[in-house]
Amino acid sequence: MQTFLITGGLGFIGCNFILKCRRENWANIINIDKLTYASNLKNLSELDNDTGYNFVYGDIANLELLLHLLKEYQVDAVINFAAESHVDRSIFSPQDFIETNVLGTFQLLEASRDYWKKLSPQKQEQFRFLHISTDEVYGSLATTDPAFREDTPYAPNSPYAASKAASDHFVRAYYHTYGLPTLTTNCSNNYGPRQFPEKLIPLITLNALDGQPLPVYGDGKNVRDWLYVEDHCEAIYLVLQNSQVGETYNIGGNNEQTNLTVVEQICSILDELIPKPNFRYSSLITFVEDRPGHDQRYAIDCGKIKRDLGWQPKENFESGLLKTIQWYLSNKSWVEKIQSKDYQTWIQQNYKGRKKANLR
Ligand code: NAD
Ligand code: DAU
Repeated sequence: MQTFLITGGLGFIGCNFILKCRRENWANIINIDKLTYASNLKNLSELDNDTGYNFVYGDIANLELLLHLLKEYQVDAVINFAAESHVDRSIFSPQDFIETNVLGTFQLLEASRDYWKKLSPQKQEQFRFLHISTDEVYGSLATTDPAFREDTPYAPNSPYAASKAASDHFVRAYYHTYGLPTLTTNCSNNYGPRQFPEKLIPLITLNALDGQPLPVYGDGKNVRDWLYVEDHCEAIYLVLQNSQVGETYNIGGNNEQTNLTVVEQICSILDELIPKPNFRYSSLITFVEDRPGHDQRYAIDCGKIKRDLGWQPKENFESGLLKTIQWYLSNKSWVEKIQSKDYQTWIQQNYKGRKKANLR
C-alpha cells in the first residue's frame, strides 16, 4: 500500500480526503497539521484506532520536520491541502497567508525535492507532489465570459488568491527547473460535511438555526460554482494516480449559483426540515456591505479532466445541500465546539462594522 503525506488534513477538504483514503484503502496516511483555528481533531476521531493513520502536529514551514517525516515513512506522494483559506480573513490579516501559503509551500517543495532526489530511479519515477489550489487565482469573470480553463491567465484579486497564485507558480517552477514530479489542481467552492462555519453554506445554516441575520454581501448576485467535497476528493485521487507529471487540472461542479440563490435554497430546506409557525427562514436574509474587491463570478471549464481522466461531478446541488444541512443538524457537539470564543471574536470583527444595505 502507498503512503501519502497529507498537509492540513484536519481542515475541511483534507479530512474528507483522508477519511475516503482509509475507507477505500487507497493509502496509509501521515497527516501534518498546525492545528490553526480552522482545524478540528474531531474531524478524524473515527481514525483514532486506525494503524494506517498517523497524526503529526507541525507546520509545513518546518523543513527539518518535513525531511524527517518523508524519510521515516518512505512517502510515495505529498498532497498539500494546508493553507490559510478564508478570503475575508486575508483582507484583515494577509501576513498569515504569505507565511503558510507561500513560504510554507516553498519549504514543502524544498523538503520534497531533497527527499525525491535521493530516492532510487524507480521510486523517483513513482513519486508525486500534488498541490491543491483554487479557481480564485484566475480572478473574476463577467456574466458572459467563458469559464476558466487551465490556460486562463492568472489574475488574483484578494490577498488569499495572490498567495495561492504565488504557491502555484512555485510548484510549476519546481517541475520545470528541478524535474520534481508535481501536479496542481484548481478547484471551485467546495461544500459538504465538516466545513468550518465562517464559510457561506455552514454560516447561513447555523445562523438560521440560531435565528440570527443571514448576511449576504452586496446585492447577492455574485456567482460561485459549487462542488460537493466527496466529488473533489475523487478527482484528486484520479489526478494523483493517472495524470502525466507537470499537469494542472481545473475541477468544478458545473453548478453556478448566485449567493442569494444559495442562501434561499438553504432557507427552503430548513423550512421543510424544521418548520416554525408563521415564520420563513428567508425573513432573516440581511444584505450587508460588500466584501472589498469581491470577485463577481467564478466558473470552471472541467473539459480537460473529463477528456483526460473521465472525471465528472456525481452529486447534484439539491441533494448535496440537503445532505450537508442534515450533517450539521446531526452533529451539534461538533458545531458547539467550533463556535468558541475565538470564533465569536472573528464574527464580531467581520460583521459588526458592516453597514446594512437596503436592497429588499
Ligand atoms: P481549511 O481552512 O478548512 O483547512 C486548512 C487546514 O490547514 C487546517 O486544518 C489548518 O490547521 C491547516 N494548516 C494551516 N496552516 C498550516 C501550516 N502552516 N502547517 C500545517 N497545517 C496548516 O481549508 P480547506 O477548505 O480544507 O481547503 C484546503 C485546500 O483547498 C486549501 O489549500 C485551499 O486553498 C484549497 N481550496 C479550498 C476550497 C474550498 O472551497 N474550501 C476550494 C478550492 C481550493
Ligand atoms: O472558489 C474557491 C474558494 O472558495 C476557495 O479557494 C476558498 O478557500 C474558499 O473559502 C471559497 O472562497 P469564497 O470567498 O468564494 O467562499 P465564502 O464561503 O467565504 O463565500 C462564498 C460567497 O458568499 C462569496 O461570494 C462571498 C459570499 N458571502 C460569504 C460570507 C462568509 C456572503 O455573501 N456572506 C457571508 O457572510
